Amino acid sequence: MNEKLPFDMDAIAKQAVDEIEHIKDEEDLEKWRIKYFGRKGIFATLTSNLSEIEQCLRPVAGMKINNVKKQLTTLYEEKKQSLISRMQVEKGKSVFNLTLPGLSSECANLHPITLVSREIVRIFQGLGFGVHTGPEIETEFYNFEALNTPADHPARDMWDTFYLDGQKKFLLRTHTSPVQIRVLQRLTVPLRIIAIGKTFRRDAFDASHSPVFHQVEGLMVGYDINFSNLKAVLTFFLKELFGSSVNVRFLPSYFPFTEPSAEISISCVICNGKGCQTCGNTGWLEILGAGMVHPEVFRKAGLRDENLTGFAFGAGIDRIAMIKYRIDDIRLFFLNDMRFLRQFR
Ligand code: PHE
Repeated sequence: MNEKLPFDMDAIAKQAVDEIEHIKDEEDLEKWRIKYFGRKGIFATLTSNLSEIEQCLRPVAGMKINNVKKQLTTLYEEKKQSLISRMQVEKGKSVFNLTLPGLSSECANLHPITLVSREIVRIFQGLGFGVHTGPEIETEFYNFEALNTPADHPARDMWDTFYLDGQKKFLLRTHTSPVQIRVLQRLTVPLRIIAIGKTFRRDAFDASHSPVFHQVEGLMVGYDINFSNLKAVLTFFLKELFGSSVNVRFLPSYFPFTEPSAEISISCVICNGKGCQTCGNTGWLEILGAGMVHPEVFRKAGLRDENLTGFAFGAGIDRIAMIKYRIDDIRLFFLNDMRFLRQFR
């Protein structure tokens, strides 16, 4: 089919390439451009002559012309660029204009939740606590059953749960407490650990609620761990975190997996305990849930030693960050607004 065309596109292309390779200045390049791409240039002529070619050969001829045209255009642009930069270098001009302002890149910084998490890890590592994690997708056993919260237990209402299947076997963990069980199964006692991670509840998404939030869990188990140890460790923790001038208050509370249980508050850091909007005029901010590990929890984790005791605690990291940085809307942590995130360095 090629022979039937009245021109030899391959030969034209070869010649054009040959010529352009030997070109040394812009003037010759411009002559080359006119020869091939000018108004009366080779391509213009070829295209206008298409009508004289046999009808059935026209599409093939057109395609060949266009292909070569494309290749040569690319070659031309490359050659032009290389001639320009060579000329600039020869004239002593840099190809790069160093006086232009640079593209400023956004400098990343740590999320406030990360900052607070790291601070918490630092404090507990100083006390010899190991740092562990657990899965965000949990089974009903780890999230409830092993934590002494069987299916018919009224305390299940404390955690509005995202179930992942109709059988209610898999769920998004409602707290970090299932890590207690996983650690008790895996490690040997005595032990002391914390676990930080995401937790999920079917809550509203408003200024003070989010369906996803963060918790820190703590567990210390041994043969002579008592409530005084719990008080000492958590008081130390809260004073390290919020400053040594805060007061710490322990009140009786209830959790199925601890007995006795306590809720632990600090004196309001905004009003120094006088009463304000943040503390609901009580002067106190509740930070931690805690208690002595319920014997049933040890049994469910497979530990039969009657002499084991321990304490556990849990706290919301988002809430801690809100108090520390005076943030009044939990949603800000999840919206990725740079104007908010940039403030934490
Ligand atoms: N898991 C409890 C909650 O989410 C907090 C807690 C942890 C309480 C450990 C006691 C001991 O509400």
